[in-house]
Amino acid sequence: MNFDLTQTDALLSTTRAVRKRLDFDRDVPDDVLLECLQLAVQAPTGSNNQGWRWMVIRDQETKNGLADIYRRAGGDYLAGAADAAGHVEGQMGRVMTSAAYLAENLERSPVMVIPMIIGRLDAVPDDAPGGASITNAAAGLMGSILPAVWSFQLALRSRGLGTCLTTLHLGLEQEAADLLGIPPHMTQAGLLPVAYTKGTDFKAAGRPPVEEITYLDTYKNPIR
Ligand SMILES: Cc1cc2nc3c(=O)[nH]c(=O)nc-3n(C[C@H](O)[C@H](O)[C@H](O)COP(=O)(O)O)c2cc1C
Repeated sequence: MNFDLTQTDALLSTTRAVRKRLDFDRDVPDDVLLECLQLAVQAPTGSNNQGWRWMVIRDQETKNGLADIYRRAGGDYLAGAADAAGHVEGQMGRVMTSAAYLAENLERSPVMVIPMIIGRLDAVPDDAPGGASITNAAAGLMGSILPAVWSFQLALRSRGLGTCLTTLHLGLEQEAADLLGIPPHMTQAGLLPVAYTKGTDFKAAGRPPVEEITYLDTYKNPIR
C-alpha cells in the first residue's frame, strides 16, 4: 500500500486544537460522527482490552450543564488564561485567547463527545504487574483511550470537522458522571466539542527540532 505522504503528513501536522474556528451553527450528522468513531476504535489498547466507551451529547440542557462544570472546574486556570490572553505574545498568547473563548462558548458546540474507559485509578489495580505505581498504571489506562481519541481527531479533520481535546472538567468528573449517568467503574478521559471548522486551512505548529529532545541509548546522550 502506497500512502500519499503529502496528504498523510499534512493531516498529521495540521490537526490542531480548534476552538475559535468551530462552526457552532452547522449540524454534525450522526453518520459522520459514527464513521469517525469507527475509525477511532482501530487504535491500540493494552492487552487488546478495548475498554473504550463514547458518550455523545446533543441535548442543549446537558451541554449547558457540562459547560458550567467546565467553567467551574477550570476556575483559576481559565481566569489566568483570560488575563494572559490580553498581554502574552506569540503561540502561548494565542492558546490562552483561544482557551478563554472555548470556555465562554462551550455549550454552543453542536455535539460534545466524552471518551471513557472502563476502570479507575483511584487505587493501583489488583492485577497490575508487580510493583506498579499509579503513575505506571496510568500509562496503561489512559494509553488505552488517548490513541483512539487522537485517531478520532484525525478522522474529524480529514472530513472538514475539528475539535479540541479538553480535560479541565475532570476536576469535577463526578458531577459530570452524575449528569450523564456514567457508572462509578468508568473513567472519563476528556471532553471534546465537535463541529465543522470554519475553513480547513490549518497550519503546522511551531515545535522544537526533535533532535533536541531525543536521546540515544542513555539520557545523557542526545541523538545528535
Ligand atoms: C491532555 C490534554 C489536555 C488538554 N486540556 C485542554 C483543556 O482543558 N482546555 C483547552 O482549551 N485545551 C486543552 N488542551 C489542548 C491544548 O491546549 C493544545 O493541544 C495545545 O495548546 C497545543 O495546540 P495544538 O494541539 O493546536 O498544537 C489539552 C490537550 C491535551 C493533549
